[in-house]
Amino acid sequence: DWTPENMVTEAIDSIRAQVGDRRVLCALSGGVDSAVAAALVQRAIGPQLTCVFVDHGLLRQGEAEQVKTDFVAVTGVDLVVADEKDRFLGALAGVSDPETKRKIIGAQFIRTFESQAREIAGDKGIDFLVQGTLYPDVVESGGGEGAANIKSHHNVGGLPEDLQFTLIEPLRQMFKDEVRAVGLQLGLPEEMVWRHPFPGPGLAIRIIGEVTEDRLDTLRQADAIARHELAAAKLERDIWQFPVVLLADVRSVGVQGDGRTYGHPIVLRPVTSDDAMTADWARLPYEVLEKISNRITNEVAEVNRVTLDITSKPPGTIEWE
Ligand code: XMP
Repeated sequence: DWTPENMVTEAIDSIRAQVGDRRVLCALSGGVDSAVAAALVQRAIGPQLTCVFVDHGLLRQGEAEQVKTDFVAVTGVDLVVADEKDRFLGALAGVSDPETKRKIIGAQFIRTFESQAREIAGDKGIDFLVQGTLYPDVVESGGGEGAANIKSHHNVGGLPEDLQFTLIEPLRQMFKDEVRAVGLQLGLPEEMVWRHPFPGPGLAIRIIGEVTEDRLDTLRQADAIARHELAAAKLERDIWQFPVVLLADVRSVGVQGDGRTYGHPIVLRPVTSDDAMTADWARLPYEVLEKISNRITNEVAEVNRVTLDITSKPPGTIEWE
């Protein structure tokens, strides 16, 4: 019988059976999936769990603060924040290929967890790593029945072969709507449960081209404007997700004030979806799009053009990389 209550009970039983009295590390990303996975494991084994939030420098504005304060306040988990910006940006230097970016980020995540595990538990180490992998992630990374490898989601296909942890993936059979129901059942607040999905590799896969600090700053500003205006129009719940993408290797000519500009385009990619397996481009009101476009071109240096992606999935994917 599928009810959120049953799912919680079943997950807790199976986590307890798998873990016994050993220690567990949980990767928190700020997203719904890892938050629900962490809350489930916390419910199951409490003090044996330590959560790690990796600040890889690829986050959106305000994201780190949300995890550091909001999530800890609600769940009371034991949280370690790892500042790994230099490690990730260093490893990504010079890389433009999407799959290479994903593999690098996946590997850096694991290396970070390994060094955190040593710091937290010393020689005894930590045996288990919790990840908020969902069923669609498994399918799209080629782990499901007969599916092609479309993208290496950093938490599935991007894992290194010499992984030292046994994975605990309590959401592996679930779709997003089920995860949200389980989150509410566990007492997580609505704002947390209804957050739009955000990919583990973060803004790195929304910069088309090499990832640099300057490009990250540019994208972060544009993204914050789009999110702010969507919230102001009270449309957050009407769409699934709203990636904002920077075409960092493309330039186009524009005019501003009385001068020529030669800047980068931003792509708005608002989509509707039920489970991210398929998606449609969201018909956002023109007034909202207009506001976002005006603000981005006025406020974000380097950006002189805003475009709207009107491709469904398939043939497009939601993210550009
Ligand atoms: P695509 O771009 O494949 O995305 O249509 C489907 C959904 O998955 C999210 N996504 C990821 N989530 N790690 C994640 O945790 C990843 O590597 C990853 N790549 C894509 C994407 O944002 C969308 O919701």
